[in-house]
Amino acid sequence: MTTTAWRWAAPKGAGADELYFEQVELADPGPGEVLVDVRACGVNPADHKHLGRDADADPQPIGYEVAGVIAALGPDAVLGSGGGAVGDPVLAFRIRGGYASAVVVPAKDVFARPAGLGEAEAANLLLAGTTAAEMLHVTGVQPGESIVLHGASGAVGVSVLQQAAPAGVRVVGTASAAHAEVVRRFGGEPVTYGDGLEARLRERAPDGFAAALDAAGTDEALDTSLALVADRERIVTVVTGPRAQAAGIRSIGGTMPASAAFRDSVRGRLVELAGNGRLVVPIARTYPLDRAREALEFLRGGHPGGKLALVPGPDPAPPRLE
Ligand SMILES: NC(=O)c1ccc[n+]([C@@H]2O[C@H](COP(=O)([O-])OP(=O)(O)OC[C@H]3O[C@@H](n4cnc5c(N)ncnc54)[C@H](OP(=O)(O)O)[C@@H]3O)[C@@H](O)[C@H]2O)c1
Repeated sequence: MTTTAWRWAAPKGAGADELYFEQVELADPGPGEVLVDVRACGVNPADHKHLGRDADADPQPIGYEVAGVIAALGPDAVLGSGGGAVGDPVLAFRIRGGYASAVVVPAKDVFARPAGLGEAEAANLLLAGTTAAEMLHVTGVQPGESIVLHGASGAVGVSVLQQAAPAGVRVVGTASAAHAEVVRRFGGEPVTYGDGLEARLRERAPDGFAAALDAAGTDEALDTSLALVADRERIVTVVTGPRAQAAGIRSIGGTMPASAAFRDSVRGRLVELAGNGRLVVPIARTYPLDRAREALEFLRGGHPGGKLALVPGPDPAPPRLE
């Protein structure tokens, strides 16, 4: 038996501009696999940035996380959170090909979705959340310390804020003036990025910061981190560029084996926090799945003010290509 699904994909080596929407027949889940009927797809900057990098996949899948309902389980399939039955609400990360109305994925990457966690929020919890957890981990941030966080109003930023605040960490977070309130809402002290940032940050921490976490990737973020943090080992960026490499600061990414192992190991804990309402995922917009290009275009603008989710239509999803 097969399942008909709609999905987005790109030709081998092509970027996000060449994404196409197509109908596919999915085979039943094999051993250790689960078929998820997708109710929301998470949208991340990595989705478009990573397209074109994979030299082998043809077509290239897009989308690393979803929320949905289990439609079928293959033999010996046990969820990452344990158990699993048809009809269970779940979320899945790190998967490939998440921009789809249904996906077959390894059961170990699927977690029961707590009752209090919405579909759009669940679909956007773990890529940003595990990245934030790793940034705090690799910089060795301790209770009572003051740190600077660049990109504090973004998806990674608000997750860092929420994971750091309960641990008694003081976070001074850079954001646009328009998103200062986002930083404040999640326990951070907002400082507007742009000309004069170093002076404004020094006012908040005359002796400098214990660590810098960069989710903005600008020269300004790098320069102020280097100026205000004495120990380079305690500066991390998730937006690797040539200057960061030349400066010898730590750079992490989900495709690095150590990062992948750490991030996989914290998924269950983050799902629990979100289920208890202690890790919130602000949603800025939702789009029908067939309007994924529009969502990516908005995200590329750089100031989404929250997460985006793609929502598949009724089965089969009607193709509404512009
Ligand atoms: N290496 C990894 O494993 C990894 C994982 C996740 C994300 N990332 C990368 O981390 C970055 C952030 O991801 P995200 O999901 O948090 O993105 P996002 O939700 O789109 O947020 C973007 C952030 O960048 C800020 N920003 C925009 N222009 C800026 C500028 N000129 N100076 C300083 N900050 C600026 C925005 O602030 P305002 O909206 O207030 O302007 C916002 O906080 C992306 O580049 C993404 O690719 C890397």
